[in-house]
Amino acid sequence: MDQVNTLISKLYVSSWESVQDRYDSIEFTRTGLYIYLISFLLLLLPLTIFTLEYLTGSLRQKLSLYRNPPPPPTKIKELRVYPIKSCRGFTVQKTRMLRTGLDLDRNWMFVDAVDYKFLTIRNLSEMTLIDTRISEKDELVVSVRGKEEMGFVIPAHPSRKWLEGNTTLNDGVVIWGQKVDAWVYPEGMTKSFAELFGKEVRLVYKGPTPRALVGNAAPERLGRTESTKFPDLMPVQISNFKSIEELNIRLEAQNESPTPIERFRPNIVVEGLTPWYEDSWKTVRINHGVSRNKSGGGELTRESSVTIDVAARCARCQVPNVDCDTAVKHKKQPWDTLMKYRRIDKGITFKPCFGMLCCPREEGDVAVGDWLEILEVTDQHDYMKGM
Ligand SMILES: *[C@@H]1O[C@H](CO)[C@@H](O)[C@H](O)[C@H]1NC(C)=O
Ligand SMILES: *[C@@H]1O[C@H](CO)[C@@H](O)[C@H](O)[C@H]1NC(C)=O
Ligand SMILES: *[C@@H]1O[C@H](CO)[C@@H](O)[C@H](O)[C@H]1NC(C)=O
Repeated sequence: MDQVNTLISKLYVSSWESVQDRYDSIEFTRTGLYIYLISFLLLLLPLTIFTLEYLTGSLRQKLSLYRNPPPPPTKIKELRVYPIKSCRGFTVQKTRMLRTGLDLDRNWMFVDAVDYKFLTIRNLSEMTLIDTRISEKDELVVSVRGKEEMGFVIPAHPSRKWLEGNTTLNDGVVIWGQKVDAWVYPEGMTKSFAELFGKEVRLVYKGPTPRALVGNAAPERLGRTESTKFPDLMPVQISNFKSIEELNIRLEAQNESPTPIERFRPNIVVEGLTPWYEDSWKTVRINHGVSRNKSGGGELTRESSVTIDVAARCARCQVPNVDCDTAVKHKKQPWDTLMKYRRIDKGITFKPCFGMLCCPREEGDVAVGDWLEILEVTDQHDYMKGM
């Protein structure tokens, strides 16, 4: 036994000595130093890439999602539809969400009778005095406050046959520099409106060719091609009632009157949990007809649901300064207040943001009181060029 131990310890010592010998004979040449330096840099490289990705990209997003799970659901407080672009709309209790937007929303617009360019409140504040409603016979009834001679009644859901018989299809109608097709109503129908607009105008209805979405909702970003009728950019705008309340606290502190949410022209207003948390929503789902199934042991059931991609923040112009009842444009508010603290989008820093622009993935019923569930959040909402 002892012999074996001695042998092992001898072997051990001798091998250790030979290692020491070898180290003693190593010279630190210049080439050797370079090799060490390069190996060190090669080790550093993956670390640098990792850090860069963490700071700029998807990894940070994934980690933040892990740390901040989506907030709890909130209820739909209002549904708002504006049949004619820039004209007064109305609220509904229940309607249908289409891929192009809420049923009837921005299906029509007024254009200049000479060049067929679109007209908005930006051109003429008085457009907010044009009222719209839907009659029991499914007609769009248009009237102007204080101007009884102006108005018309047309089918709210005209058939292709009706449009072919009563309007003219024109593919040179211009909205935001984009040429689109539209059915043009007869000159006589809107003749009396020249007094309001200060020039001849025409009413148009979106034609059959889809108006494809651009910018943040372009196919390469959204992952599919969607289209809309005559909103500025996207089919649906969702906003949060908690945010308008927060803005109004700021306005009241300056002795200014509060701004009704209608002036921001949202389609869906949710009750909300906290102000501005909608800024980071990425995917939401409206659960329609949620109830507790008593016979099924009290579990939650829903009749249907609509999943919606939140594609961008809504960057604002000065339209919310226009009083919807009087068409008087306030010189400063709420624009000035919003400019102080809502220039939050790095892609469009010269404009304040309010509300979120969205693209439904599917169609279905939506109603006041439905639950809006936030499925995913993001910090990558900045405006892209091409909007
Ligand atoms: C109306 O205003 C829009 C947006 O500012 C503008 O692009 C358009 O050219 C104007 N149209 C007319 C006819 O002035
Ligand atoms: C044109 O409009 C009138 C009035 O709404 C309607 O009676 C008529 O049927 C329409 N024409 C066609 C071809 O649908
Ligand atoms: C309620 O639960 C029962 C039993 O699970 C089921 O048969 C029924 O379809 C449910 N009703 C609804 C509205 O989901």
